Amino acid sequence: MTGPDIAHLLDAARADGRRRLLGIVGGPGAGKSTLVAALAGPEVAVVGMDGWHLANAVLDRLGRRDRKGAPDTFDAAGYVAFLERARSRAATVWAPEFRREIEEPIAGALEVPPDALVLVTEGNYLLMDEAPWDGVRALLDEVWFLAPDEDERRARLVARHERHGRSHAEAVARADGSDAANARMIAATAHRADRIISY
Ligand SMILES: Nc1ncnc2c1ncn2[C@@H]1O[C@H](COP(=O)(O)OP(=O)(O)OP(=O)(O)O)[C@@H](O)[C@H]1O
Ligand SMILES: [Mg+2]
Repeated sequence: MTGPDIAHLLDAARADGRRRLLGIVGGPGAGKSTLVAALAGPEVAVVGMDGWHLANAVLDRLGRRDRKGAPDTFDAAGYVAFLERARSRAATVWAPEFRREIEEPIAGALEVPPDALVLVTEGNYLLMDEAPWDGVRALLDEVWFLAPDEDERRARLVARHERHGRSHAEAVARADGSDAANARMIAATAHRADRIISY
């Protein structure tokens, strides 16, 4: 992948003082979290959509635990409200962070300080056109869709599932099951991105 360049967003924000919001979208294992971690810095805050996962106890109550990660297992309206708030640099905005080791989000874990000229957010459903996800696109100044080679994406995803304690068979079943279904749904939204990054 060529170095992702957000200099134009920083320049624009410096020129008029208005924070710019960049969204990174892509299927499971596309490399979103890896890419945004490399973009973070003193003037660039990073807050992923994953922080708005519903709690496991709520998913159990709703009977949705087995499809954790699907669009209706997130507080999408809460994420939209956060993006609305985060467009202003008037005060610090706190955000939740998803912790993979416990598979739950922690509230107030990520800081978006007034100094942040650019906010980068990443996730699967930033370009979905169903409510309430359809409120996200208009709040983002720019959206990039990450489209790595499909075989590569699957291989990395299987490897990551194994690193998180799954057997090879479980990792493959997950990658080719719910992950693959989500990946197809997400790929169908790519046409709404400003830029497609193939690598
Ligand atoms: N450019 C790259 N080259 C090689 N490996 C990569 C690259 N980007 C990411 N990876 C690896 O691929 C795996 C998936 O990447 P990452 O976790 O960033 O994807 P993601 O899009 O955030 O996935 P998810 O939607 O499941 O959160 C990780 O193990 C990561 O280390
Ligand atoms: Mg990720």
